[in-house]
Amino acid sequence: MASIAVTGSASGIGAEVCKMLASEGYSIIGIDRNTDDNFTKIAADLATISGRRSAVNEITRLCDGKLDGIICCAGVGVTAPSTSLIVGVNYFGVTELIEGLTESLTKVGKASVVVIGSVASTHQQQETAELAQAMFDSDEEKANHIAEMMGSTHLAYAASKYAVTAWARKWSVSVANKGIRVNIVAPGAVETPLHQASKDDPRFGEAVKNFVAPMGRNGQPEEIANAVSFLVSEKASFVNGSVLFVDGGMDAMIRAKQF
Ligand code: NAI
Repeated sequence: MASIAVTGSASGIGAEVCKMLASEGYSIIGIDRNTDDNFTKIAADLATISGRRSAVNEITRLCDGKLDGIICCAGVGVTAPSTSLIVGVNYFGVTELIEGLTESLTKVGKASVVVIGSVASTHQQQETAELAQAMFDSDEEKANHIAEMMGSTHLAYAASKYAVTAWARKWSVSVANKGIRVNIVAPGAVETPLHQASKDDPRFGEAVKNFVAPMGRNGQPEEIANAVSFLVSEKASFVNGSVLFVDGGMDAMIRAKQF
């Protein structure tokens, strides 16, 4: 049975991805902060270097060194308690995990990686260029310092999602000859605990509630899982390095002339 690792498996989009891919016959190796649900097999804190390393070791053990795919859903939003947590989970918790699993992904001969980015990845690139550069340079300490100086979880979130999207696209080029496809799903507002926390936050609540997609509603986690399911499948066999916006038209509304 094909093995797929899913981070953030305990909640929201990650939980829905687990459910959908399991129903399609994949064996799921869920990774989250604790193992209280059916899909999460590995408890690891992806905000830390040791947590990422232990996740890589455990995934490798559970899949016997042959991994058909990894879906990186774990993430924290603008209500996170610190900007360094945003940088740690949303960027390094993705890139270090994927890099650590390259050998296992290569052994399959035909593997698929999907990173959950965000429609926010297209925001504020000028303002956060230095922060993004520190992430590209794999300098977590510097990135944390810049993010803390910036003092805005909103900017840190946008920068982390921009950087992880750009990293994944670059990585898709370097591993294509190993039979690994890498794509990014960029959701708009999706009804999950993360989004609810933003709506409930006195700093961001009003803006989040007023930022509605042209379709006039927010997405549901299964609508994101549908896109992931497609990208993992053979139907997407020539799709590589793509950013698939699943956002009810939000990106088209904001950046009509840029694509
Ligand atoms: P969620 O809060 O429902 O789920 C996130 C999961 O990640 C949780 O199970 C949480 O425990 C896990 N996680 C967080 N920090 C972790 C850590 N240090 N170590 C291990 N696991 C950790 O959130 P949601 O909405 O399902 O988010 C999934 C992804 O989608 C995130 O990357 C988020 O940035 C992205 N996204 C969500 C949007 C939304 O409106 N819900 C919009 C755009 C992107």
